[in-house]
Amino acid sequence: MAEGAVLLRGLFRADEPEIISALRAIVAQAPFRRMVTPGGHTMSVAMTNCGSKGWVTDISGYRYDVNDPESGRPWPALPPSFLDLARRAAEQGGFADFVPDACLINRYVPGAKMSLHQDKDELDLGAPIVSVSLGLPAVFMFGGLARSEKAKRYRLEHGDIAVWGGPARLAYHGVAPLADGEHPLMGRQRINLTFRKVQ
Ligand code: SIN
Ligand code: FE2
Repeated sequence: MAEGAVLLRGLFRADEPEIISALRAIVAQAPFRRMVTPGGHTMSVAMTNCGSKGWVTDISGYRYDVNDPESGRPWPALPPSFLDLARRAAEQGGFADFVPDACLINRYVPGAKMSLHQDKDELDLGAPIVSVSLGLPAVFMFGGLARSEKAKRYRLEHGDIAVWGGPARLAYHGVAPLADGEHPLMGRQRINLTFRKVQ
């Protein structure tokens, strides 16, 4: 996609059922919820997290929190199948030894979208972002380091993984409104796993 940014196609292998069942277990412990931005806007994407820290937003701002604010308990742990997949993808993207400590899980229903933004709440900008797509296809927008740069559009399908780091680590990116459909395994939704190293 750019220097430091690659799109890897169809990266699930024998690990696919394990990843989907681990995802279901996380969501049972920490359900998806629609968070509110500091501007007071309720996001169309529903979110949860796993890992030692989880990305949250509310009226007071964006932050990483060790606890799920809904339950007051720590986020579910990062499952080994997630860690393996993230490491394998990062390596193929040119970033060896990626050990994430956080995974933001986004759920898009038809019409849900994510506006162009940078992932910049992490302290460790040396580590890449690894972003795994499941379920319905989406249009991913990937731009440059300035919001004004025109973003290119890429179709992301179940099993595709975008990796960006190095010179692309702070690239603007987003997701166009999800088209309706029914995915054979995941149903009427798209799930995105975004692995980060926060600290
Ligand atoms: C994100 O930027 O957190 C989500 C990207 C995606 O859903 O593909
Ligand atoms: Fe992002």
